[in-house]
Amino acid sequence: MMRLFQRPLPGSLRLRFLLAITVWVVLGISAIWLSATSIFRTHVEHSYHEELEVHVRELGGLTRVNNDGKLELVRPLSDPRYIEPLSGFYWQITADGREPLRSASMTRGTLDEQIAHSPQILHKLENGPTGPAITYGFTRKGPKGEDIHFVIATDQSELNRLLDSFTRDLTLWLVMLGLLLLATGLAIISFGLHPLDRLAQATARLRRGEAQELEGNYPAEIAPLAENLNAYIKQNSEMIARARVQAGNLAHSLRTPLAVITDEAERMASRKGCAESARTLLDQGRAMEQQIEYQLARARSSAGQPAVGQVTRIPDVALPIINAMQRLHPDKQFHCEAAGCGMRTIPVDTVDFAELLSILLDNAGKWARQSVGLAFSCDGHGTLTAIITDDGAGMSADELASAFELGVRHDPAKPGSGLGLAIARDIAHDLKLELTLRNETDGFSATLVYRPARSDS
Ligand SMILES: Nc1ncnc2c1ncn2[C@@H]1O[C@H](COP(=O)(O)OP(=O)(O)O)[C@@H](O)[C@H]1O
Ligand SMILES: [Mg+2]
Repeated sequence: MMRLFQRPLPGSLRLRFLLAITVWVVLGISAIWLSATSIFRTHVEHSYHEELEVHVRELGGLTRVNNDGKLELVRPLSDPRYIEPLSGFYWQITADGREPLRSASMTRGTLDEQIAHSPQILHKLENGPTGPAITYGFTRKGPKGEDIHFVIATDQSELNRLLDSFTRDLTLWLVMLGLLLLATGLAIISFGLHPLDRLAQATARLRRGEAQELEGNYPAEIAPLAENLNAYIKQNSEMIARARVQAGNLAHSLRTPLAVITDEAERMASRKGCAESARTLLDQGRAMEQQIEYQLARARSSAGQPAVGQVTRIPDVALPIINAMQRLHPDKQFHCEAAGCGMRTIPVDTVDFAELLSILLDNAGKWARQSVGLAFSCDGHGTLTAIITDDGAGMSADELASAFELGVRHDPAKPGSGLGLAIARDIAHDLKLELTLRNETDGFSATLVYRPARSDS
């Protein structure tokens, strides 16, 4: 299944895109926030001031001087907020020599009539009864030619409250929008990078030997990569196969001339005066023979090649070998157990693994007194251990130290070439298996351990 939200690793493309998208979203959202608040402020302030201007004009229109020479309103102002005490909305009418008239909301304080000093409507920020107030005012001539001052004021905090509540709502919405954009961005990144994840999985399958090439269709940008890699893999394995055949051919072609030389040296050995040279020739001939046998064995194994599509089934792989060994060493008892391994498989070449078991079981069969055991064990982490035990005398410490060397044999009484352990060591190395030999209290053991690579899991 497509894993949409993977945790981005340091230095990954995912992290780069995520950072870029985050910067992009933050910049965009901030720009929207700044322009929206400033546009809204301008508009609100404008209509607020317009309303105040209308109110002061209305106040002027409703005012008259009655027969007693007192200022009075024909009817109250239409806005009820001028009645509610200390509501933040106030008006005031003053004239020299007359009783001032104030809105019912103004239960304390006065408004500065200075703002009203011309027939022109003027405004400024003054201190009102309940804090800083936007004050509008103008003057009109009374019946005696005196100035009547009309002043109207609204608390600045009223305007701020309006702006603040808008800003709060806007911020909340924009934060939500930003988060939504980030989440979609994340989904887009994952969608875009998904083919790369598939490529990584295909590569891992290839390495585990579950596939012969990079499988799957890829977008145009990475399809050439997959194609070229597949071509390279094919070319590489053809080259290795060719080299292996050539090495085998070379070893084979040397066998006959070497046999002729050895034959000739043996004849020389019986002649007087040549015995010394003949022995040298024979020794060197034997060394060459060993090398040839060794190289042929190496060429036969798939060593070094990725185990493409290859898996070895435990314990099935061992059964025919145990049968063959039983026939080869009829006086010894061979037994095999694989408790807890079920039908486990390990991704190594079956032919190579069988060769490895054969070498170790053959040695155990040669040097056991009575019985040889092969025990497989598996743990929950995919580790597989194969232990080959025999009840023979084992080796001394010195013998153990050199047992893996090419052509080294410690017991010439038994048939052999001294190549077995050298080849076993090479195969184990190529298959990435751990091979250790150990003397036990009641015999000798060879242990093979397979550990899954990290990318296998
Ligand atoms: N299971 C064993 N018990 C005792 N000695 C062993 C065992 N396996 C190997 N050796 C010793 O290690 C030497 C090298 O083994 P190997 O390389 O297989 O050569 P070969 O089997 O041809 O002698 C043997 O000659 C033998 O002395
Ligand atoms: Mg051997």
